[in-house]
Amino acid sequence: MTGRLAGKKIILGVTGGIAAYKTPHLVRLLKKEGAEVRVLMSPSASWFVTPETLGVVSGNPVWESFFDPLTLQWHNHVELGLWADAILIAPCTASTLSKLVQGQSDNLLVTVCMSCRCPVLVSPAMDLDMYLQESVQTNLRILASRGMRVIEPETGPLASGLSGKGRMPEPEQLLEHLHRLFAYGHLFAGKNVLITAGPTHEYLDAVRYLGNASSGKMGYALAETFRDMGAHVSLISGPVTLPAPEGIQTTRVVSATEMYDAFTRALPAADIIICAAAVADYRPAEKRQEKLKKEANNLNLTLVKNPDLLLYAGENKKNGQYLVGFALETHNEETFAREKLIRKKADLIVLNSLRDEGAGFGTDTNKVTLITHNNTRSSGLLPKPEIAGEIALCIAGECSLL
Ligand code: CTP
Repeated sequence: MTGRLAGKKIILGVTGGIAAYKTPHLVRLLKKEGAEVRVLMSPSASWFVTPETLGVVSGNPVWESFFDPLTLQWHNHVELGLWADAILIAPCTASTLSKLVQGQSDNLLVTVCMSCRCPVLVSPAMDLDMYLQESVQTNLRILASRGMRVIEPETGPLASGLSGKGRMPEPEQLLEHLHRLFAYGHLFAGKNVLITAGPTHEYLDAVRYLGNASSGKMGYALAETFRDMGAHVSLISGPVTLPAPEGIQTTRVVSATEMYDAFTRALPAADIIICAAAVADYRPAEKRQEKLKKEANNLNLTLVKNPDLLLYAGENKKNGQYLVGFALETHNEETFAREKLIRKKADLIVLNSLRDEGAGFGTDTNKVTLITHNNTRSSGLLPKPEIAGEIALCIAGECSLL
């Protein structure tokens, strides 16, 4: 059998959401690509699609529970979990997300996920207000931090009649996620990737600091992407609210000087260096130990320049180290970014323009232009994890890994 998924063993987990009606088509696409497919259904999934349909299109029996109701034969969840090269749960309800987080193994699908050793992808699909619930968002963050790959739902009309984020992506797009998984899962195997992320806080007294609004989301998304592509990732993070990602060596720092110290220590071992942190360019010349009292009408602060990590890495680059910087510009974007590429001796500059809505600090999406010494290419407006994928593929191409 030929096809991009030839020989791959895929478990499709279907749970009880309206988008389940699209899963027979998804199974057909998987089969067409050469995959072997086993379908598992949660107890409520058959309200939306029948096991008979999924059994016929997959060519395999569909399991819904631990025992076959007719023969009482036990369905071996351990064997099935070890059989799979990947598990895709689509659609994945809020209830299944919660069970996965808690390890609540009272249905076969969740139990197989707990017995498997392969990557698990979840495609959450639900109404927009449910999707925004803190409980759902927390569960998604926890699953992602444990290494599960969360596929962002799409925005559009929902079964409730409302419109918003919560739709399961079309089967063709879900298939694309599996393609990426198998094509790129080992792309950076054996590579050490060093990433800086988040802001720095430069304290002027015991309680006040100079800082910026960087959320760290882009740097963290890059760290997770490189981890998923087989790299060993070291993340040096300024103060952010994001949890330390699973499987990534994370060093937390506060100031630019602390970030510089951690960075220069880690630098020699790195093959790929990505400076995504919004490092403060200046810090107060002195930090008062106690809280500054308000007295005079004016307060003058003397600031001194912080070390520039990207510049340091550029000037001390060893043969073969690949260096990536970020640029956030408001005008003459490409000219300034290209100038930064040369001045800081980087190999790639990821340019954000503040003129692009949905791009830059704090947002979940980004739109970037990737500028190398020989090439310039732009992405669309995409979720930050997908932007991270585009950046990683660009680096892989540049490093002749593709
Ligand atoms: N950077 C760094 N250390 C610093 C300052 C910046 O590593 N002390 C890195 C950032 O992580 C980013 C790039 O340098 O990759 C941004 O370059 P920079 O010249 O600081 O950009 P701007 O702050 O936009 O500077 P300018 O005002 O000169 O455009």
